[in-house]
Amino acid sequence: MQPKIETNPYAWVERSLETIRRAGWYREPEIIEGSPGAVVLKDGRKMLNFASNDYLGLAGDPRLIEAATKAINTFGTGATGSRLLSGHRILHQELETAIAQLKQTEAALVFSSGYLANIGTISAIVGQRDLILADQYNHSSLKNGAILSLAHINEYLHNNIADVKKQLQEHRHQYRRCLIVTDSVFSMDGDICQLPELLELADKYNCMVLVDEAHATGVFGATGAGCVEHYGCTGKPLIQIGTLSKALGSLGGYVAGSKAIIDFLRNRAPSWIYTTGLSPGDAAAALAAVQIIQTEPERRAQLWKNVTHMKNNLKENLPSEFQLLPSASPIICVQVPSIDILLRVKAQLLAAGIFVAAVRPPTVPTSRLRLTVMATHTKADCEKLASRFIGL
Ligand SMILES: Cc1ncc(COP(=O)(O)O)c(C=O)c1O
Repeated sequence: MQPKIETNPYAWVERSLETIRRAGWYREPEIIEGSPGAVVLKDGRKMLNFASNDYLGLAGDPRLIEAATKAINTFGTGATGSRLLSGHRILHQELETAIAQLKQTEAALVFSSGYLANIGTISAIVGQRDLILADQYNHSSLKNGAILSLAHINEYLHNNIADVKKQLQEHRHQYRRCLIVTDSVFSMDGDICQLPELLELADKYNCMVLVDEAHATGVFGATGAGCVEHYGCTGKPLIQIGTLSKALGSLGGYVAGSKAIIDFLRNRAPSWIYTTGLSPGDAAAALAAVQIIQTEPERRAQLWKNVTHMKNNLKENLPSEFQLLPSASPIICVQVPSIDILLRVKAQLLAAGIFVAAVRPPTVPTSRLRLTVMATHTKADCEKLASRFIGL
């Protein structure tokens, strides 16, 4: 059957929006006023903030603000060009050295966002003749990087090592290279990947491993280097990606790995080559943050204390139809029976002065409240949120 020709080529947009609204998937950004932190201003009201990825409370730290301000005064607001043309500054070099030192890798490369780091790296290192084995719950940037690479993509069941092994046994021999791709902390669930087991399989089946440490850097490991450090896998052959926008309180992304990989990406990753360098202010703030996470482990210790306190309180207070998803990180998800209930609970919490994220399909398979704990929350903050679930 011939498709009906419409006179307005944009008419489909309103229809699609209507479908999104009908499914309860329609979303709009909400304005947060003033400084970031455990308490934020929204609609002129103070709100307890359990919706941010600023796990260590560094985004409003005076030292980051001072570093960014100084860099802007010295270097201006923009990098003014791509890194290979006119956009390379000494700050980029210092930041890359600091990240490599934190991650204990030979080298690092800073991108303008974590999303760009993921799509640029994956699409540069594998191609049509290669296989990507990817966790089904991977972040959108990992999924889109895989699509962009044109490699054959096989998703494995979430965190299921037996499935990875089975797929390697069945398919690895048909491809030139194989890349195993996973988040280290799963951003919409809060659980963590089984990195040592993945590395063991990678070694056995001659695969590369790319791990996205977006929610782990600054949070996991004795020095804040992430899940790789937490698992004692520092120095193993793998490619680590991350963002400067979560625990590091700034903006930008990075790749850390061997000197050869970083050299290769500088010459082959389109989302690094053909985009403007990270702004001086963002680079300077991130550099200050990398230093703070290494010298102030007490922030991390406080964060983990808060995480434990929050989980214990939630376990006691959650109604039986609300399910606490397994989490090993400051990301705590409460699965609720429907989108309607999700939006009602979010509104009730807002009315009580608590700001949380409501996450629903198609971002995740089931509707859930995503609660993120910060080092700068107090015990009373965690108790206040948990107590609000009583009798819901
Ligand atoms: C797991 C993961 N990877 C990558 C990104 C992208 O990082 P960025 O915000 O720096 O683009 C995010 C979130 O934003 C994320 O949650």
